[in-house]
Amino acid sequence: MEHMEEYKKTVELLRFHGQGHLLAFYDQLTSLQKQQLLDEINALDFSVIPYWIENYVKTNGNVGIPDHFEPAPSHPPASASAQQSNKYDQARLMGVDLISAGKVAAFVVAGGQGTRLGFDGPKGDFPIGPVSNKTLFGIFAETILAARKKYDTPIPWYIMTSPLNHAATVDIFESNDYFGLGKSDVSLFQQGANPNFATDGKILLADKCTIASSPDGHGGSLRALYKSGALADMKTRGIEQISYWQVDNPLINIFDPLFIGLHALDGAEMSSKALVKAHPMEKVGNFCLVDGKVAVIEYSDLPDEQAHRRNPDGSLVFELGSIAIHVISTAFIEKLNAHGFALPIHRAVKKVPHIDAQGNRVVPTEPNGIKLETFVFDALPLAEKSIILQTVRSEEFAPVKNATGDDSPEVTRRMMIARAADWLEAAGVKVPRTPDGTPDCILEIAPSFALHREDVAEKADQIPAIMPGDQLYLA
Ligand code: UD1
Repeated sequence: MEHMEEYKKTVELLRFHGQGHLLAFYDQLTSLQKQQLLDEINALDFSVIPYWIENYVKTNGNVGIPDHFEPAPSHPPASASAQQSNKYDQARLMGVDLISAGKVAAFVVAGGQGTRLGFDGPKGDFPIGPVSNKTLFGIFAETILAARKKYDTPIPWYIMTSPLNHAATVDIFESNDYFGLGKSDVSLFQQGANPNFATDGKILLADKCTIASSPDGHGGSLRALYKSGALADMKTRGIEQISYWQVDNPLINIFDPLFIGLHALDGAEMSSKALVKAHPMEKVGNFCLVDGKVAVIEYSDLPDEQAHRRNPDGSLVFELGSIAIHVISTAFIEKLNAHGFALPIHRAVKKVPHIDAQGNRVVPTEPNGIKLETFVFDALPLAEKSIILQTVRSEEFAPVKNATGDDSPEVTRRMMIARAADWLEAAGVKVPRTPDGTPDCILEIAPSFALHREDVAEKADQIPAIMPGDQLYLA
């Protein structure tokens, strides 16, 4: 019988770990399916799975919060930095130097499921340009192209996908001819996946020959960059710093000389951008200092009374929210991987479609399974040095997360238009506004027209008069 040796060994392994049910339908499979299932089982990391089951599946061993934590120090936003102007000027120069010398790579994490948005396909393919209808990937690609031109340097783009959306993402890049960036300067690589568990610790089967699994969280990027060869590729290209962002945020300032420069000037290994939370319970991670190290405590873990604590001046004690924008040095990622590292596991109880003991498909209406992930910001405390730069929400954070309401495409487009209007007005262009102050026109500034706010002024004379109700795409 085919696969007999491997089958026997696998039976033993699974029996030892109490996961024998994974082979319950083996006899019903074709030869190819048998091999697929054996491969999937043998790729499971049983050096950690028993520990996960005891500590995160059967019980809720989530790290929770440390005993002592305080607010993390930060650099004020550029707009409020008069007293820091010397350092900021120096940092900007350093940032420009690093970008121009080709030492900064672009890296987006795009392996998530995007379930909340309800969009069929990789989220990066979601059309968001208020006038152009360009997709998130399209806008990021144009930003990279514009930065290549502005800084006269080749800039590679790394995109992390997951087993859920890798093929579909590659198709998008292929069919868009890599958005003009050149295939050899775009790397798509996959993050890892973790098996999904029933609450009793049994690994679930998605079908008779496939283990139910999900991406291992954006924390998986730190290992995937290394394992995929992306980090080695960066080294060959002389990359020293990685500009990291999430696929959901079209306002991202990928090449921010100030942020990159401050990070480098302070000798940081992994740095973050933060903004002042809109309200105490805003669903963003909270920057804290734990044992002298910068750390993020997720909104779901920060006790309500801490979230609501205020300083005498009325500001929130924990006011700095994480917007998942980082600069990470390649040396830091290399160091982590070379010495072996493990980020804390986060447990989520989710609806996991699977087959039951009789092989019938179950599509749960209530959460029934456990997914395990790691988060990239949990690497912050592992960094020797980590800085935080505050930024302004309207300038660089408008994530598309939900189909409606907060963080919906409608809100994101409105914020893209509002930022374009601000940039134009700052350059002396008149923008019609409604009595409540919102722009009375639909505006979009392509990265090719202006990468940064100050770039608009140079082209102000090319901008036509804007009338109420106009649609204007500046490219
Ligand atoms: C995340 C952060 C939160 C932050 C907010 C800012 C977590 C747990 N929380 O929340 O602190 O304030 O963004 O917008 O991340 N991704 C992968 N692989 C995965 C999982 C996610 O690549 O396995 C990517 C997604 O494609 C997306 C990003 O990570 O680009 C964020 O994932 P998501 O699950 O949407 O995080 P949020 O809950 O929105």
